[in-house]
Amino acid sequence: MESPFTTEQVINQYRKFVIGNYKRYPVCLVRGEGSRVWDAEGREYLDFFPGWGCGLLGHCPPRVVAAVTEQLHLLIHVPNTWYTEPQGSLAQALSERTDFAGQAFFCNSGTEANEAAIKLARLCGGPGRHKVVTMLNSFHGRTLGSLTATGQPKYHEGVGPLVPGFRYAPFGDLAAVEKLIDGETCAVMLEPIQGEGGVNLPPAGYLEGLRKLCDEKGCLLIFDEVQTGMGRTGRWFTHQHFGVNPDIVTLAKALGGGVAVGGLLATPAVAAKLVPGTHAATFGGNPLACRAALATIETIEAEGLLDRATALGAMFRERFTALKSKCPAIREVRVSGVMIGVELNIEGAGIVDRCLERGLLINCTHGNVLRLLPAMNLTDAEFEKGCGIIEEVLETL
Ligand SMILES: Cc1ncc(COP(=O)(O)O)c(C=O)c1O
Repeated sequence: MESPFTTEQVINQYRKFVIGNYKRYPVCLVRGEGSRVWDAEGREYLDFFPGWGCGLLGHCPPRVVAAVTEQLHLLIHVPNTWYTEPQGSLAQALSERTDFAGQAFFCNSGTEANEAAIKLARLCGGPGRHKVVTMLNSFHGRTLGSLTATGQPKYHEGVGPLVPGFRYAPFGDLAAVEKLIDGETCAVMLEPIQGEGGVNLPPAGYLEGLRKLCDEKGCLLIFDEVQTGMGRTGRWFTHQHFGVNPDIVTLAKALGGGVAVGGLLATPAVAAKLVPGTHAATFGGNPLACRAALATIETIEAEGLLDRATALGAMFRERFTALKSKCPAIREVRVSGVMIGVELNIEGAGIVDRCLERGLLINCTHGNVLRLLPAMNLTDAEFEKGCGIIEEVLETL
């Protein structure tokens, strides 16, 4: 398909009219299908990081495209002063996939979902119980509450004062969390697997220990599953691998199959505190986004993609573990489903550039961790091709 504009034209337009708060690769993408995308010059790329984690079904998943197209002709948006069936059906579909009869609130992004969770925890805590313990190296979003919850000082620079009441513990250190909890603490909040912080897996017994601790101290346990949720690690929610239920779980990214939607699920007792007037989002739970999310769930179920995510995880683990023995630059391989981290002894940005030159899109986080968040419907051939490129790049360092 011939593009009516060139990458250079679009880059020049951005220079003049778009604020430069993102570091972008000099590539203008125009079309996507599954795990492949094409740029304005018609070059094809294999995408092992579709939509920064939003493309769990790859680009333009057909059921999502069909559902959104149909909904577009019926009703795009009405506010939450009215009932709409897609929001109710999505809440039911998500609730039925939790193990705690979760009730839903919808918004548009991960940071908003976490803002809602923090407010809900404070509402549950009541007067005098406002503190939240979060983890170092975490990432919860860019609005001020979620940003303060994010335990990475580099993101806090220059935008203070931050929101009062946040305390940070090293990820995996149960005793540190216990020390930080006091009579003013209302919640402990964490990603069950840290994404942006380097694909850090929780040590054995950690999540179970946090649940016990929160119960003893009367605090809520909040899991941010914005990146790990919706089947990425082979279960609908990553906490289900550990048999640990949260009081609140937050979602976004993959929830809408590429369409912007976020939300949280809370136990009925906790959810009851979010009464009219306490919180809202104008676009939250709109019919278009909810239909997209319903079609996402339908696709994952109909195509057996939870099992596929698990199988792909095993394939990636085996492949990169074998590569580690040949490639001294690899320090550790961390995998859960289609959430893959390859920690290097060197900076990873150059590796990402070399993969891009060879037509493969990947990410590097935390400076030295190659992060892959491929689609759960990645084909064997695509897996082979992408891994081959990464191997070639790492072996020729
Ligand atoms: C675990 C986690 N929480 C929250 C967010 C923020 O999501 P959003 O960019 O949709 O606000 C992210 C984004 O990367 C994330 O990885």
